[in-house]
Amino acid sequence: MEAAANRPPLVYCQGLTKVYPLSGVEVHALRGVDLRVERGEMVAIMGPSGSGKSTLMHIIGCMDTQTSGSYLLDGVDVSNVPEKELAAIRNKKLGFVFQRYNLLPRATALYNVELPLFYAGITGSAAEEKARAALEQVGILHLADHLPNQMSGGQQQRVAIARAMVNDPLLILADEPTGALDTVSSAEVMGIFQKMHEERGVTVIIITHEPHIAEFCRRRVILRDGRIVGDKTFEYSNPVA
Ligand SMILES: Nc1ncnc2c1ncn2[C@@H]1O[C@H](COP(=O)(O)OP(=O)(O)OP(=O)(O)O)[C@@H](O)[C@H]1O
Ligand SMILES: [Mg+2]
Repeated sequence: MEAAANRPPLVYCQGLTKVYPLSGVEVHALRGVDLRVERGEMVAIMGPSGSGKSTLMHIIGCMDTQTSGSYLLDGVDVSNVPEKELAAIRNKKLGFVFQRYNLLPRATALYNVELPLFYAGITGSAAEEKARAALEQVGILHLADHLPNQMSGGQQQRVAIARAMVNDPLLILADEPTGALDTVSSAEVMGIFQKMHEERGVTVIIITHEPHIAEFCRRRVILRDGRIVGDKTFEYSNPVA
């Protein structure tokens, strides 16, 4: 227990800024963000379009680096880590889910979920078994042989979640995961995130525009104009759908 208590926060941002130089004009996407997320939290990041949500997620997800300030992922200052090691960190510690699913169009659901395992050096029947278990967890094992265009949006997003979970990440980052889904599929997808969070203890950070989606998360952080203007943890979240 003591070791757990001494663990660093999973996400620890201090004074993060991000400036994009855009044809001579500087765009200040983040203007000093302090954010600390502990293991086992489920956090919604909300805010209007252009407030810096995706920029923050790209930094947290080691896909981009800040202009100033510091960011530690699980105690590691990733701004100094070479790209090859970063790729390994992303593969091992992080799982990503995007609005448009980002599945390989010509590959089956099963293969899409197996891919991150291949990158991690797990192949053959070991990979297939793990990928099938992940598809079962999200309720679409029966679609293992389907191509993305043979599935509904909600089903494709389940494949994406299975792919994000298959390597047992510490942290799932989802950027508007329900943005392209109808209300029923959105609630189902949020229910799956909650289930992963509750049953497997994975930390989840979800970006959303929609208050009713944020309500599935106990903690809700609000960004405006590159700054955090609200950060509340509620006693309850919406129940699993
Ligand atoms: N690669 C880039 N180059 C230049 N400016 C950028 C780049 N990416 C983002 N920006 C700008 O940074 C600001 C924050 O963008 P960001 O994508 O983080 O917003 P967001 O909150 O995710 O918005 P949305 O809800 O529309 O997805 C915006 O003003 C945007 O135009
Ligand atoms: Mg965005």
